[in-house]
Amino acid sequence: MTDTSPPLAGVVGWPIAHSRSPALHNHWLKRYNLPGYYIPIPLKPQDFEAGIRMLPRLGFKGVNLTIPYKEMILPLAEAVSDRASLIGAANTITFLADGAIHADNTDGIGFLSSVQASAPDWSAKAGPALILGAGGAARAVISALLNASAPEVRIANRTRQKAEMLSEHFGGRATAVDWATASEAADGAMTIVNTTALGMQGKPPLTISLDAAPAGATVIDIVYNPLETDFLLRARERKLRTVDGLGMLLYQAVPGFESWFGHRPEVDDALRQVVLEA
Ligand code: ATR
Repeated sequence: MTDTSPPLAGVVGWPIAHSRSPALHNHWLKRYNLPGYYIPIPLKPQDFEAGIRMLPRLGFKGVNLTIPYKEMILPLAEAVSDRASLIGAANTITFLADGAIHADNTDGIGFLSSVQASAPDWSAKAGPALILGAGGAARAVISALLNASAPEVRIANRTRQKAEMLSEHFGGRATAVDWATASEAADGAMTIVNTTALGMQGKPPLTISLDAAPAGATVIDIVYNPLETDFLLRARERKLRTVDGLGMLLYQAVPGFESWFGHRPEVDDALRQVVLEA
């Protein structure tokens, strides 16, 4: 007998109530008139492994992963993509026919697609990049920029040791700079990215100065709540090109949706609106 039940996918995290991924994927399912459901799946850490293993048996094609599971999935996965292993975390998993887990990370390509869509003539090759922060998001952004042939990556992080660990992780192609000198490190940086939580609603603003940034620089904030952070506002006042954080969230979702529901979806203004209001 062939199974004709609609494909299922979802997002696994703990807690999960605030995830905007269900609104995003369900908008696409409706828009393309596809059968299927995408739901939030709250799994407590002690239930994570058993819960994930059960999902393919329940009809799930795959899931997105969010806090705190992006790193924890790697040792459980039967297959890990090169980019997920380089980043050291996965946000998108697909179950193979036998239920085996294929773990991938689409945050880096989500980042690149978002910047390319907002600033079509931007190129990572144009000059050095300055990355603020050294957490999971920074890893994805740095690996994407190096992959796109950025000539130099500077990492400034409040805890310098974490920036140094990332520099080592990427084989010295990225160098650590002191958080206290981050404003000076903007000198010559053609791509400047905030990957810290600073500027997010309820957090203090990012106060790094953009005065030293070159005229053609592109300033990117991965924060999307609010869409226009103080950092981006200051960049716009300096007439620098800016990219907000919503695009990365939308574009990182494209490969998962395509693999689970069989249709490559588009990112457009209607989707931006749906996710902003979610
Ligand atoms: P994510 O995985 O989303 O990148 P994370 O791993 O918690 O999240 O990383 C958060 C980043 O924001 C870190 O680089 C953190 O700096 P530390 O490594 O020093 O903790 C940075 N960050 C958070 N609050 C900050 C603050 N008040 N000032 C400067 N940096 C901050």
